[in-house]
Amino acid sequence: MKVLVIGSGGREHALVWKISQSPRVAKIYCAPGSAAISELAQLVAIGSEQIKELADFAANEKIDLTVVGPELPLTLGIVDLFESRGLRIFGPNKIGAQLEGSKAFAKEILHQNNIPTAASSTFTDAMSAKQYITRQRAPYVIKADGLAGGKGVIICQSRSEAECAVDEILVGKAFGEAGDKVVIEEFLEGEEASFMVLTDGEHVLPLASSQDHKRVFDGDEGPNTGGMGAYSPAPVVTPEIHERILGEILAPLLVALKKRNIRYRGVIYVGLMITKEGPKVLEFNARFGDPECQPIMMRLKSDLIPLLEATIDGKLNEISPQWYDEPAVCVVLTADGYPGAYEKGKEIRGLDKLKNWSNGFVFHAGTIKQSNRWLTSGGRVLGVTARGESIAAAVKEVYRGVGEIAWDGMHYRKDIAQRALRKG
Ligand code: AMP
Ligand code: GLY
Repeated sequence: MKVLVIGSGGREHALVWKISQSPRVAKIYCAPGSAAISELAQLVAIGSEQIKELADFAANEKIDLTVVGPELPLTLGIVDLFESRGLRIFGPNKIGAQLEGSKAFAKEILHQNNIPTAASSTFTDAMSAKQYITRQRAPYVIKADGLAGGKGVIICQSRSEAECAVDEILVGKAFGEAGDKVVIEEFLEGEEASFMVLTDGEHVLPLASSQDHKRVFDGDEGPNTGGMGAYSPAPVVTPEIHERILGEILAPLLVALKKRNIRYRGVIYVGLMITKEGPKVLEFNARFGDPECQPIMMRLKSDLIPLLEATIDGKLNEISPQWYDEPAVCVVLTADGYPGAYEKGKEIRGLDKLKNWSNGFVFHAGTIKQSNRWLTSGGRVLGVTARGESIAAAVKEVYRGVGEIAWDGMHYRKDIAQRALRKG
């Protein structure tokens, strides 16, 4: 079969890498893809938000299955468009993708259905938002409603900081239209985990658990990023917590979506805080997490294609994937300055030494190739990912790989998976 993957980051590199191992796949296209992805797929020069052009391409090339990586095309309605043209595509439709596209929408569903989450309120005007803040206790969690690349959440220790954050979002439009509404939330304490499932609207198939590292510096210091590293499985998701996530969060969520006539097919990514009282929802994403997708694809033993097809066909109850027991760890290498301003075009050295790495793979998030030299071209540049017999062994192996790579201004966290190591 012919498969089209949409996107160009580390997550899409991991999806293409995994799909390229499927005996069912004869040809992979990736739009727009990247130089690194071009080693596994034919690139198509169409941006991931050009959904009409993508549908034309899929129809003309008789693509059998399209897999959407990022959230933006989903919120633009790529799935609705493909389906209206009889094209098979993996991902939720436009309204389903609002679970990620609007935090206010997600919170409304959560609160209406008593799904555990932080108490919150949504505002469109700064005055009422600030009045609400005076009645809450610090720290304050201030969120832009819409898509902000994982950077639209500001945690404020003081009331004045919180008021500034509200002004920045609602008045200063720091996140553009994504900040037409602001969600103000209770601060939750605990350990975070990412829990991704496939759902066909009726059944839920959990993927391996994982943990992201959102802050830019070691020890969870500094601003939030799109994700600085991830590992799977996450020991904080014990069998008991796993069952509670399914029973207290996903089961009522599916009922709530159905009640609203939303047929959700695709990934539901639940960003969780595992608190003393149990798991609570921080956010939903409507697609695979990035970088969580990298270690998860590395741990997936089964072919990915039948899982994607079962999701589309409503047959997730008929399939159970096999996983490698070995944990996998991904360390994201970023440009100095990210998530703020950063430079591009730095030459990356050492990638050739990891070409035939038997225990790992280097996924490219933001690179280009020029006259046989790899250059940085994004904030998140590489996702070095490795598997090992234990978390400790995977950590050792992944940092051995990281040690081979260098560029001027390369930054990465040295404590990825420390929480799991501390749990033994
Ligand atoms: P979100 O995009 O909503 O997941 O938020 C990004 C990050 O901000 C999360 O991964 C948490 O680290 C932090 N965060 C978000 N909401 C809360 C909350 N209610 N309490 C504590 N931390 C939070
Ligand atoms: N790593 C978090 C996300 O994909 O949103």
